[in-house]
Amino acid sequence: MENLISLVNRLQRACTALGDHGEETALPTLWDALPSIAVVGGQIVVNVEFVAYLTRFLRGSEFGSAYQLFFELNSFISSGKSSVLESVVGKDFLPRGSGIVTRRPLVLQLHRLDEGREYAEFGHLPRRRFTDFAAVRKEIADETDRETGRSKQISTVPIYLSIYSPNVVNLTLIDLPGLTKVAVGEFAIFMFLLSFVIATVSSSLNGQPDSIVMDIENMVRSYIEKPNCIILAISPANQDLATSDAIKISREVDPKGERTFGVLTKIDLMDKGTDAVDILEGKAYRLQFPWIGVVNRSQQDINKNVDMIAARRREREYFAQSPEYKHLAHRMGSEHLGKILSKHLEAVIKSRIPGLQSLINKTVIELESELSRLGKPIATDAGGKLYMIMEICRTFDGIFKEHLDGVRPGGDKI
Ligand code: GDP
Ligand code: MG
Ligand code: NA
Repeated sequence: MENLISLVNRLQRACTALGDHGEETALPTLWDALPSIAVVGGQIVVNVEFVAYLTRFLRGSEFGSAYQLFFELNSFISSGKSSVLESVVGKDFLPRGSGIVTRRPLVLQLHRLDEGREYAEFGHLPRRRFTDFAAVRKEIADETDRETGRSKQISTVPIYLSIYSPNVVNLTLIDLPGLTKVAVGEFAIFMFLLSFVIATVSSSLNGQPDSIVMDIENMVRSYIEKPNCIILAISPANQDLATSDAIKISREVDPKGERTFGVLTKIDLMDKGTDAVDILEGKAYRLQFPWIGVVNRSQQDINKNVDMIAARRREREYFAQSPEYKHLAHRMGSEHLGKILSKHLEAVIKSRIPGLQSLINKTVIELESELSRLGKPIATDAGGKLYMIMEICRTFDGIFKEHLDGVRPGGDKI
């Protein structure tokens, strides 16, 4: 029997393939009703290159220390969203850099293969198989620019990327632009740099409209406010959780924490003498689900090309061997995170089957009338696509019926 998550993946892709032709039907509602996981996290926008340049200039120091400062800043300003996604996937494939790199939602569908070579496919390039993940990274960046222009604007139009691999769990993750805030003097290093920061904020947002901060927040909210969205809230352990944008916005849309998974990154970067045990044990900032701590690759690791397999092994060892975290090691780390999310997503889909099913039936009826409106024979592109969706909906109906046995009658509403 086909896995429920990959079925939902197919339906998601079909809904998008239809594009504008589906506007008058229930398809947009159907898309909204499909459970998915959105990754949110904050980032502080400063023009780090410029700050590094200024520091170098003012100190009269050589290139080395400015370079060092750049990377220290980079690991300070970002919550580690891309790193978490990459380690769940077990591959390097996301664009990196300072500033707002993720400017369009990335819908990442992971499909587990029993065997064979891993490859990636984009929704906008359906017939091309990528086996080189550096080329995947480049295509994400290029496709972002194609939609937004090079103006660094953001766009709500998602990029669809499927990864087929024996090393992934079935999962759909949506990477969203980082919630942006302009640096303020709450951190020592920024106290020192504050004056440069103020001077550079305008240049860092150069070409980006002033409203970009709000635009991103609204876009993130539009995804995570859907009751079927599971929120992966990324917060760095080396910053005060009370200031975490991810926690702030997820509390807003999910006050009881019923669909929020808290992920704590950069545990290895905490100040000496402090640890995250209280958070990870659920004593501080309690969420419905236990917090999951991760240790991603540091910037130095990335520069040295430490591969994902080695990074995952080191992460395992980190938790197993630290006296503070040993007792939590079995539920820490990226691998555990991937498994938990996949299990949870499947359970959510299962509980939504009755509601999804009636929505799908409604969609089929509407598609049928849309098709008869278009007239027969259907030679048009739109007609072909509508047929395709209808076929998938029918497949769903059949498969959902099989799964229904395990669901209580009248199960959860959508
Ligand atoms: P994003 O902007 O939120 O997507 O953050 P990235 O994933 O690009 O990470 C920003 C920087 O933080 C990179 O230099 C990463 O190497 C570093 N980083 C992320 N997570 C960790 C972690 O758990 N430990 C360490 N030491 N560095 C991390
Ligand atoms: Mg990123
Ligand atoms: Na970044």
